[in-house]
Amino acid sequence: MTEAGIRRLLVSLVRQAGATQRFSIGVRRVDATGQVPHVAALDRGFRVSERRRREFLAGRAAAAEALARRDMQGYSVSRTERGVPVWPPGVVGSISHSRTWAVSVVFDSDIAICCGVDIEEVTAASAAPSVELHCARESLYKALSPGTGLPFRPEQWRLQRSGSKGCWAVSVPESFPAHRLRLAPRLVTAFAPPLQAALTLAHRAA
Ligand SMILES: CC(C)(COP(=O)(O)OP(=O)(O)OC[C@H]1O[C@@H](n2cnc3c(N)ncnc32)[C@H](O)[C@@H]1OP(=O)(O)O)[C@@H](O)C(=O)NCCC(=O)NCCS
Repeated sequence: MTEAGIRRLLVSLVRQAGATQRFSIGVRRVDATGQVPHVAALDRGFRVSERRRREFLAGRAAAAEALARRDMQGYSVSRTERGVPVWPPGVVGSISHSRTWAVSVVFDSDIAICCGVDIEEVTAASAAPSVELHCARESLYKALSPGTGLPFRPEQWRLQRSGSKGCWAVSVPESFPAHRLRLAPRLVTAFAPPLQAALTLAHRAA
């Protein structure tokens, strides 16, 4: 898949998830990092495998692009001890990487409470429903994981296909402050070999 194809895929996911404006995306090939100086600086002291290091930097470069498109140039997305990305005030975002591509999606925080993006590399042959379910779960997990401040316990959530293609309904635990979130059917997935992609977007209630 080309970079342009991935951008189109992400934009269509965002639109399907109900956002038409005030979002931006970033895409970076994993082997094309090092071109964003403030991102390259994050590399210091990062002791992991070479592949993981490249994926991390590509994810940060994708995030830097998405932020720059929102007039937030030069911001380095750091991480909490649990690995949750830390976004600048005023936006919420998410990062995902595969072996080849890193992507990031960023929304203004006055329209979105949180979001989660996930991409998985697939072949036409590996396009099993389980890959789609896995991708959907990871995107939901990123959006609602403990580091986001929301009371999420993975076992409390149920994902079910909803009517429209690629859409999933999320059943919200009774204990969850549902009035704060408008999720379902906002978890959407798209299969476009070699990528399976999923996006969870929690809209801020009006
Ligand atoms: C954290 C996790 C979601 C990452 O997903 P993945 O498919 O392995 O990897 P991806 O490339 O898509 O995403 C990795 C990025 O997610 C982000 N991330 C990591 N932990 C996160 C969290 N708790 N919340 C939000 N984003 C997170 C980071 O930016 C990370 O990249 P980085 O370490 O380079 O900064 C996954 O490893 C995990 O632990 N999942 C939880 C398992 C689970 O409970 N699943 C069932 C949910 S119902």
